[in-house]
Amino acid sequence: MSPAPTAQPWNRKHLLDLQSLGAEDLTLILDTARSFKAINERAIKRVPPLRGKTVINLFVEPSTRTRISFELAAMRLSADVINFSAEASSLKKGETLRDTVRNLESLNADVIILRHSASGAPHYLARFARAHIINAGDGAHEHPTQGLLDAFTIREHKGRIAGLNVTILGDILFSRVARSNIWALLKLGANVTLCGPPTLVPKVFEQMGCRVTWNLEEALRDADVVNLLRIQHERQRVTMFPSLGEYTALFGLNQARMKWVKPDALIMHPGPINRGVEIEGHIADGPQSVILEQVTNGLAVRMAVLFLVTGGRADEAG
Ligand code: CP
Repeated sequence: MSPAPTAQPWNRKHLLDLQSLGAEDLTLILDTARSFKAINERAIKRVPPLRGKTVINLFVEPSTRTRISFELAAMRLSADVINFSAEASSLKKGETLRDTVRNLESLNADVIILRHSASGAPHYLARFARAHIINAGDGAHEHPTQGLLDAFTIREHKGRIAGLNVTILGDILFSRVARSNIWALLKLGANVTLCGPPTLVPKVFEQMGCRVTWNLEEALRDADVVNLLRIQHERQRVTMFPSLGEYTALFGLNQARMKWVKPDALIMHPGPINRGVEIEGHIADGPQSVILEQVTNGLAVRMAVLFLVTGGRADEAG
C-alpha cells in the first residue's frame, strides 16, 4: 500500500520535536507509517532502505518500548544497529555527550537516536552532528515519536483527528509525552483538554491552545479519546500533591468513573503503567483500551521516521 500523495516531501535532517512540524509533515509521517504497518503484517517483514547504514540507540535514560521498537524498526529497514548502554559506557568516566557523539560519528554512525534527561539535548547535538538525530524523549520537553504513534492510533480507530475531543489526564507539567501529543493533536485539528491536579496542570497550558479543567467528570464526559499519563516522580523535585493515594482518589480512572466515559472512547496510555494509580488494571486491559496497539504502532511510526530522515521518499515506502 502506498501512502496518499502529499503536497510536500520530507526535507528535514533530524526529528527533534513536533512543535516545529506542520500538519503536512505530521500527515506525511502518519501516511508513511501506514505503509510500514502493512509491511509489519507480512510474513517477510524486512525491507532494504537502510541497508549499509548504522543506527545507534543512545539511551541515557531507561526505556522499554521506545528503545526496543527503534531497534526493531532499524533492523526491519536492514540497518546495522548498536545499542549504547550508558551505564557501561565512558559517560560514567566523565566523557561528555558531545565527545561521545563525535566518537560514534567516527565509527560512521548515520543515525543517532537519543533519550536524555536534559530538555534540549537532541537540539544541542543537531547543532554539530553529521549524523541524523532523532529525539527519543528529552527531559520534560518532547517525545515526538510517542506523539506520532498516539496520533496514528487515534486516526486508525476514528478515521480522523480533526474535530475529535482528546483528554490528556495526569501529570502534564512534567510530561514530554503530553507536550508532543498536544502539538500533534492541535496541529491536526483536535480539541485538547488537560486534566489533573492544579499543581500538575497549570492554567498556563491554555496558552498552547488547550482547555484546562481540574474537574474530572467534565474532562471525561465529551472525550473521544482519554490518554492517561503516569506521575513522573523522577522529574519532580518537590512534592506536587499529598500522596499517590490522594491522586488516585481524585484523578485515578476506576470503574465508577468509567460511567462518565463514552462507550466508544479510546483509553490510551504511553506506558509504563502504574496499575492501580492512574488507571485500574482491568480498564487498562479492557475492551476500550488500545494501549498495546499503541506499542505495535510505535514500530511502524519509528520505521517511517528512520526512513524519512535518511532521505526515503514517502511514495517508495512499502
Ligand atoms: N512510552 C515510553 O516512552 O515508554 P519507554 O520509557 O518504555 O520507552
